[in-house]
Amino acid sequence: MSQLRRYWTRFAVMLLSIGAVLVSGSTASAIPADGPAVQARVDNPYAGARPYVNPEWSAKAAAEPGGSAIADQPTGVWLDRIAAIEGAGSAMGLRDHLDAALAQDANLVQLVVYDLPGRDCSALASNGELAPDEIGRYRDEFIDPIAAILADPAYAGLRIVTVVEIDSLPNLVTNVSPRPTATPECDVMAANGNYVNGIGYALRQFGAIDNVYNYLDVGHHGWLGWDDNFAPGARKLLEGAQASGSVDNVHGFITNTANYGALKEPYFTINDTVNGQTVRQAKWIDWNRYVDELSYAQAFRAELVRIGFNSDIGMLIDTGRNGWGGSARPAGPGPTTSVDAYVDGGRLDRRIHLGNWCNQSGAGLGERPTAAPESGIDAYVWMKPPGESDGSSKEIPNDEGKGFDRMCDPTYEGNIRNGFNPPGSLPDAPLSGHWFGAQFRELLANAHPPLT
Ligand code: GLC
Repeated sequence: MSQLRRYWTRFAVMLLSIGAVLVSGSTASAIPADGPAVQARVDNPYAGARPYVNPEWSAKAAAEPGGSAIADQPTGVWLDRIAAIEGAGSAMGLRDHLDAALAQDANLVQLVVYDLPGRDCSALASNGELAPDEIGRYRDEFIDPIAAILADPAYAGLRIVTVVEIDSLPNLVTNVSPRPTATPECDVMAANGNYVNGIGYALRQFGAIDNVYNYLDVGHHGWLGWDDNFAPGARKLLEGAQASGSVDNVHGFITNTANYGALKEPYFTINDTVNGQTVRQAKWIDWNRYVDELSYAQAFRAELVRIGFNSDIGMLIDTGRNGWGGSARPAGPGPTTSVDAYVDGGRLDRRIHLGNWCNQSGAGLGERPTAAPESGIDAYVWMKPPGESDGSSKEIPNDEGKGFDRMCDPTYEGNIRNGFNPPGSLPDAPLSGHWFGAQFRELLANAHPPLT
């Protein structure tokens, strides 16, 4: 998948558009009135839960040297095309996964619902199968069949976490006109309303099912952490929620999905100064307000509650690939010779630029999936399955709609979104979502906490 995009100048003015855009053509949900007792939604679905281990991911992990150390971890199941509902080729479909979860005696399943019209408007690596105007197919052929399966009383005992359409609402903030990072594709999706309406529809259909927990994506600190993105980002998420009819359809939010931002930067804080200069002016930080995912997630949560989301929302943080262990990991703060030396010497996140997002060289597994690790955080999760590519490093013909984004090509010179730096991606990467053994092995080697 693709992520991130930030930009350099800060003149943005976002029009506040909180009007509820009600989804047209939808009626209430297809939820049976009878069936076995449905559990009331709990505050934190991860608390005390037994999360489902995806046997397909687990087998690929276990087949890599050393991979069995983590092959029993829960990871996200991505519904990334219509065919994924039934199971494309020999792959398991949605019912197969839910049945397998019951057979495992698991009671929590993590789904990523990811097939919006005009998907991934700011990048190419995860472009999808639906054209920008195919909102009807999205509702009828994607969301409705998923909702019908999730509403099956056979699955009423499962807590089903649905991460609804990552990247899309943040893209409508940072990658639309008049921002210098605007793309024509994101302008189209902003104008036709199909991201907001599609998300509204999905939230409403899933929200009507008592054991489903909807989470929306808030990007990550290297995306919406700047002042001119932060509040507009929260408002755009509110717009998406209101398009469903009620903020009650949103249980929480996720940060860092498929990204690499460190959970905690222990060797500097945003408030530090060096020789009287704020670290915020260091090149790496570039006036961002946050330096790591935990502080960002907690602050974003507070902002969401402030503007109208329920006070009991919880955050998820994807820690699958943000461990940054290994020999390049700093053991202490950087030298206080300059703000740049201090930040660059002490930061765990070893990316060339915070805007890099594709198959990052040097990355490692982060915190293992954990329930309720910190205040306001429902869980650390591995939503992007470690070992699955973010995008191909060269053009690969395919029937998935995936494009070639040069941010996945290590020889690229970069663009406005990463300050014209090299993208720091691993070579020889397959299409996004496909197994990338070399990346998986590096994630194992650079795991932090280390594997025992
Ligand atoms: C990317 C791909 C998608 C895949 C997902 C998880 O977003 O586009 O097909 O399922 O990553 O690896």
